[in-house]
Amino acid sequence: MIDKIKEYIAEVDAFKAKSKEEIEAFRIKFSGRKGIINDFFTEFRTVANEQKKELGQAINTLKIAAEEKVQLLKEEFEANVEEKGSYGDLTRPAAPIALGSRHPISLVKNQIIDIFSRIGFNVSEGPEIEDDWHNFTALNLPEYHPARDMQDTFFIQTDPDILLRTHTSSVQVRYMENNQPPIRTISPGRVYRNEAISARSHCFFHQVEGLYIDKDVSFSDLKQTLQYFTTALFGKSEIRLRPSYFPFTEPSAEVDVYWGLETETDYKMTKGTGWLEIMGCGMVDPNVLKNCNIDPEVYSGFAFGMGIDRIALLVYGISDIRMLSENDIRFLEQFKSAL
Ligand code: DAH
Repeated sequence: MIDKIKEYIAEVDAFKAKSKEEIEAFRIKFSGRKGIINDFFTEFRTVANEQKKELGQAINTLKIAAEEKVQLLKEEFEANVEEKGSYGDLTRPAAPIALGSRHPISLVKNQIIDIFSRIGFNVSEGPEIEDDWHNFTALNLPEYHPARDMQDTFFIQTDPDILLRTHTSSVQVRYMENNQPPIRTISPGRVYRNEAISARSHCFFHQVEGLYIDKDVSFSDLKQTLQYFTTALFGKSEIRLRPSYFPFTEPSAEVDVYWGLETETDYKMTKGTGWLEIMGCGMVDPNVLKNCNIDPEVYSGFAFGMGIDRIALLVYGISDIRMLSENDIRFLEQFKSAL
C-alpha cells in the first residue's frame, strides 16, 4: 500500500492540465468523495496498528499534495485566461490612427513647386553647408565686396571657406555648373544667417530660388512669370517692381504684390501702403553666367529669390516666425491640406 501511495504522489507532482475540466477530473479522482484518497482512508482502518503512523503520514502527504496541486493549477489557469482576456475581441475595429499634418513651410513650398512646375520648372537642391565660391564668389561677390556684409554668415569652425549658406542662390551656381541651357529650375531649401531671433526674424529660415536661362530671355519674361506666380499663389495679380541692387543680377528689382487695404491686418501688414514686398529678382549678371561656364553672348536669363517663412506667415496669418520651428503639436495640428 505504501508503494502505491508513493506512486500516486509522483503522479500528482507530474500532473499538468490543459483545461478547467481536466483540473476538475483530477480533483474528483483524488479528493472526491469516492476518490483515491478516501479509499486509502477506508483501507487505513483495516491495517495493523504499528503500520498506522507511517501509512497515515503517507496518505496525508498525498492528500495535501493533491489539494495544493488543484489550487495551483486553478490559479495558473485563471491568470492565463485573464491574460488572453486582455486582448478582448480580436475582430473589433482597430483604434483610429491619428493622421499627421504637414508643416506650413512644407505646404507653402509644395504649392510654389506646383505652380512653377506647371510652366516647366523642375526642382533642384544643393547642400546647406556650402563653400565660399558657390555662396559668394561665383555670384559676383568677391572677397572684400561690401555686399557680403548684408548677410551675416555662420562659418563652420574657423575655416572661412566653409559656411552655412546664407541664401539658396548658391544652388543657381551649382545648377548652371552642371547643366546646359535651357534651364528652368527652382531650388527650395533652408538657409542660415547670424541674426537675433525675434517674432519677425530667425537665424534659420527657408527660401525658394528661381532660375531661367535660355536664348533671348528678357525682363518682360521675368515680369510675366512673377505675375503668373502671385496670381496663382495669392490670387493677386497686381505687382510692382522697384529698382534695387543684388550683386548677382543686373538690373535688379524688388517685387511687391498689391495685397489690399480692406482689413486692419492689411493695414498692419503693409504699413498702410497696401503693398507687400515678397521677393528679389533680376536679370542674371553676365559675370555670374561666365563664372558658371555659360556664354553671356549667347544666353541670358532671370533669377528670383523669396522667403518661404514670410509667405507662410502671410498666408496663414501666423504672428510669430518662431512658431514655425518650435514643434508645438497644438500649432502644427491645425494645418490640414492635400498638398
Ligand atoms: N539671394 C537673395 C537674398 O537672399 C534673394 C535674391 C534676390 C535671389 C535676387 C535672386 C535674385 O536670385 O535675383 O536676399
